[in-house]
Amino acid sequence: AAIMKGRFDHFMQKEIYEQPESVVNTMRGRVNFDTNQITLGGLRAYLPIIRRARRMVFIACGTSYHSCVATRAIFEELTEIPISVELASDFLDRKTPIFRDDVCCFLSQSGETADTILALRYCLERGALCLGVVNTVGSTLSRETHCGVHINAGPEIGVASTKAYTSQYIALLMMAIQLSEDRISLTERRNQIIAGLHAMPTLIKKVLEMDSQIQQLAKTITGNKSLLIMGRGFQNATCLEGALKIKEISYMHSESILAGELKHGPLALIDENMPVIIIMTQDSLYPKVQSALAQITARKAQPIILCNDGDEGVPKNAKTIRVPKTVDCLQGMLNIIPLQLLSYYLAVGQGYDVDFPRNLAKSVTTE
Ligand code: AGP
Repeated sequence: AAIMKGRFDHFMQKEIYEQPESVVNTMRGRVNFDTNQITLGGLRAYLPIIRRARRMVFIACGTSYHSCVATRAIFEELTEIPISVELASDFLDRKTPIFRDDVCCFLSQSGETADTILALRYCLERGALCLGVVNTVGSTLSRETHCGVHINAGPEIGVASTKAYTSQYIALLMMAIQLSEDRISLTERRNQIIAGLHAMPTLIKKVLEMDSQIQQLAKTITGNKSLLIMGRGFQNATCLEGALKIKEISYMHSESILAGELKHGPLALIDENMPVIIIMTQDSLYPKVQSALAQITARKAQPIILCNDGDEGVPKNAKTIRVPKTVDCLQGMLNIIPLQLLSYYLAVGQGYDVDFPRNLAKSVTTE
């Protein structure tokens, strides 16, 4: 059947709005909220091998790569397996050493990205166990990997990936939780995350209610040369992904700044004219982000602060984007949504073709 935009103006907008349901589809039949158990059928037979892995290597491009960055810390925390996260092209350029006891995990919405497929074949030749986390059933990546997980987000048409990101995020979390199920000491942490997953669709809907606020905000940002997106820890990936969305469809320069690196260079960019969004939701790194905020406001920046509902620690006169609070490792799923909407309205406001940005293709099938 033809995929229709329905009441939406663009596929990208429709896909942003589908996220309360697409994340449920990713979890359907896999997460049991009564017993707090997660079962990914496609991995079950391989669990003992994966648990014995010396390391795991996550390989992807673009937004799919960002979903790996987003979940790396919680994956390491739950599984205690060292993880490296690789951009497929760079991984191949470096002729990265890969061995039989490595577990390599390939993420792709389309399953047809040339760089990712070449990296997969490279790892297969070296005898590694290869997993796929793919949206498109029957795609090259899903056929050529040993095992894996379909994210079941439904077809994504807009070139800018949105719902695939939140579904990949959940798929990787589910994988980490299943891999760690034999670690008794982590039961509470796992249950906390599973409860957070249960609440996620409702919270995503709440964030989507900010639509018109974000549309207004986009008007105040349009016309600037550049937009910095700053954060750290779990929000590093949100910054990377937000900046990519803004670049690819609104053609505005946008860059993610790791708050921990601020003093090592980027602080020089800051003055009263440099637009900055700082992500300051409440997790263990909050005090460090607060000090980054103080450093940029001392240089007269007037950042927009992406923070939690009810946070009193945010300067009273600051412009804010407020999102509900969730478990630290899930917060990135909520935080990315205002940035998806912002990129959308920055582009639409300038009359750009949001679904087909210039120079880009939905799936990059050449190197
Ligand atoms: C995201 O908005 C981009 N269009 C792009 O970075 C994309 O995520 C990348 O090309 C990877 O695609 P894949 O997930 O289909 O492999």
